[in-house]
Amino acid sequence: MSRRARILLKSVVWILCLLPLVVLGYRAATGDLGANPISFVTNWLGQWTFRLLLLTVALTPIRVLFGISWPISLRRLLGLFAFSYACLHFSIWILVDHFFNWDQMIADIVKRRYITVGMLALTLLVPLAVTSTNAMVRRLGGAAWRRLHRLVYVVGVLAALHFLWLAKKGRIDPYVYAAILSLLLGIRLWDAVRRALRKRRHEQAAKEPALA
Ligand code: HEM
Repeated sequence: MSRRARILLKSVVWILCLLPLVVLGYRAATGDLGANPISFVTNWLGQWTFRLLLLTVALTPIRVLFGISWPISLRRLLGLFAFSYACLHFSIWILVDHFFNWDQMIADIVKRRYITVGMLALTLLVPLAVTSTNAMVRRLGGAAWRRLHRLVYVVGVLAALHFLWLAKKGRIDPYVYAAILSLLLGIRLWDAVRRALRKRRHEQAAKEPALA
């Protein structure tokens, strides 16, 4: 992909990722946040965090299944947007739900399991965001960096539990998100097993002539 095409693509992704915030701002300005605006804003930001997380995780399975690798160049941008949405989602909880009442927040984290796993998910996203720069990839080395960034799958599982545990009975969207995540994880796992088997076959093939 040419440099110009890459810049254009990234600009489109920037606009698309900022769109949910623009729509939220518009709905706030026109008084269209429903009967419980705080809950509406929290849930809106939570939903977009999860969608962006799923999109980030989907890029490698897309390459594995269809051999299309250019979307991988968007992984860092999408991941950082997912992190930014998660921070906004968390800020509403700190500022509006608890207004810096630390005792209340700690009690909430300990008492409610969906808050506990949400907090864990956000915490695990921090090292991924911090190490997302090229300089950090060089500093850590490719293999260690890739190992660290597999944490995004753990974050996905925690986010799925967060949503499943907080949702009221009868909602199907938490199950849809969990199913999409399971499918993406399944593809990654299948690919990892396939590669390991191929590597073993190559190693054996390399040894055989020596044995002969
Ligand atoms: C990667 C991190 C996170 C993701 C992906 C995420 C995702 C979500 C989603 C999808 C929802 C439900 C939206 C809906 O009902 O339509 C939600 C709601 C919520 N989340 Fe998170 N969340 C994350 C982190 C956190 C953290 C760190 C906190 C606070 C410590 C938090 C607190 C809440 C609260 C209070 C709700 C609203 C629950 C209610 O409606 O009563 N989330 N989140």
